[in-house]
Amino acid sequence: MALQSVNVLLGVTGGIAAYKAPDLVRKLTGLGANVRVVLSPSSAAFVTPLSLQAVSGNIVHQHLLDPEAEAGMGHIELARWADVLLIAPATAHCLAKLAHGMADDLLTTLVLATPAPIFIAPAMNQQMWAAAATQANLKTITERGITCFGPASGEQACGDIGYGRMLETVDIAQMLDEAVAALKALSGNEKTAATATNEPSEGSQDTPGLLAGKHIVITAGPTREAIDPVRYISNHSSGKMGYCLAVQALAMGAEVTLVSGPVDIPVPMGCKVIQVQSAVDMHAAVMHAVRQSCDIFIACAAVADYRVADIASQKIKKDNDEMTLTLVKNPDILADVAALPSPPFTLGFAAETHDVERYARGKLTRKKLNMIAANDVSQPDIGFNQNDNALTVFTADAQMVLPKQDKLALATQLLTILTNQVRK
Ligand code: PMT
Repeated sequence: MALQSVNVLLGVTGGIAAYKAPDLVRKLTGLGANVRVVLSPSSAAFVTPLSLQAVSGNIVHQHLLDPEAEAGMGHIELARWADVLLIAPATAHCLAKLAHGMADDLLTTLVLATPAPIFIAPAMNQQMWAAAATQANLKTITERGITCFGPASGEQACGDIGYGRMLETVDIAQMLDEAVAALKALSGNEKTAATATNEPSEGSQDTPGLLAGKHIVITAGPTREAIDPVRYISNHSSGKMGYCLAVQALAMGAEVTLVSGPVDIPVPMGCKVIQVQSAVDMHAAVMHAVRQSCDIFIACAAVADYRVADIASQKIKKDNDEMTLTLVKNPDILADVAALPSPPFTLGFAAETHDVERYARGKLTRKKLNMIAANDVSQPDIGFNQNDNALTVFTADAQMVLPKQDKLALATQLLTILTNQVRK
């Protein structure tokens, strides 16, 4: 239990999911955390300070300009007390205020005043979650290093169905525990996680990111298997998921080599990119990069399983009504990396349309991986060539659902889990 004796400042903002705050406090204290609660002005309409005081065992903080509170534990002391700041539920309005750095109430002031890592668990109507403004705000704050847990999909208080439900309190507590474990491992600090910055991309150089000192090789995008000089076999991978992982790994302090198939998105600044076309090219580039130096290998590319046995040297003419291509199996890059005598930590992806868990677990075992992220690509709004994705992460003895969200935010969550596993 990484949260044992950790000071968790829980911010509650004004949405219907605020009624779950007392239960979340219980889950956090159950994991050993010391919890203090800050209510936003509107949240008191959904949950009473008294109930939160009863479950946390501490005075609930509500007002920025409260002479009594400032004489006791004022906002700066509270900001310093926190080892982590968790906002759950975080409303659309809260995300907007965080994106703009506003400090017009106690909670938003604390966000700016604390050096502690910040986590949010959004909760809102599905249309509000999907709104361009909300997604832009989320992108801004996750790029600054705030970690987003969820939201989940399901029936909402308003009757709508879709993404926007706050994650279950047990899942939020577990994800925070995982994240704190990773931060503790990094800082070597048994008591707190506050030594890790909440601004990894722009933060102080004195504060290393979670992946500082690690060299990560990531594959991304599709491969193209030539048929003749003008035709090829490929798939719909845009490279977005792999590139988001590269961006976030860089932000978390890693040195990144990105081995990329042909894609149409900009190269992330600061990482070494090796452009390839075919699976055989990607295999060669990866094996070379990994043998040079690699602590973690992430196989996100959609590698063609087969290539054309004999690539025609000239354009094939349509002389016949039918044409047969003989395909031969491509090398399995991920399996070959995992089979090296001293393999790096390996994270594979499994893109599946059915029996997702069974196939993903099969690949985890057969390819001898440390971790696998199962991607249900039967859902049209996630996965291939979409801005959003959702994953279920499996290790030999654990599994965790990362619900649908922007691929950048998802990359942060996946890398946080990975960091914790790497250090086990
Ligand atoms: O690029 P996007 O548009 O953002 O889409 C993201 C994605 C859907 C491509 C990504 O999230 C994803 O699921 N990538 C894995 C796609 C895939 O090829 O899965 P697979 O189940 O066929 O392969 C299993 C694993 O083995 C993967 O890690 C794959 O990279 C790896 N592999 C497969 C074949 C091969 N010859 N070599 C490999 O390394």
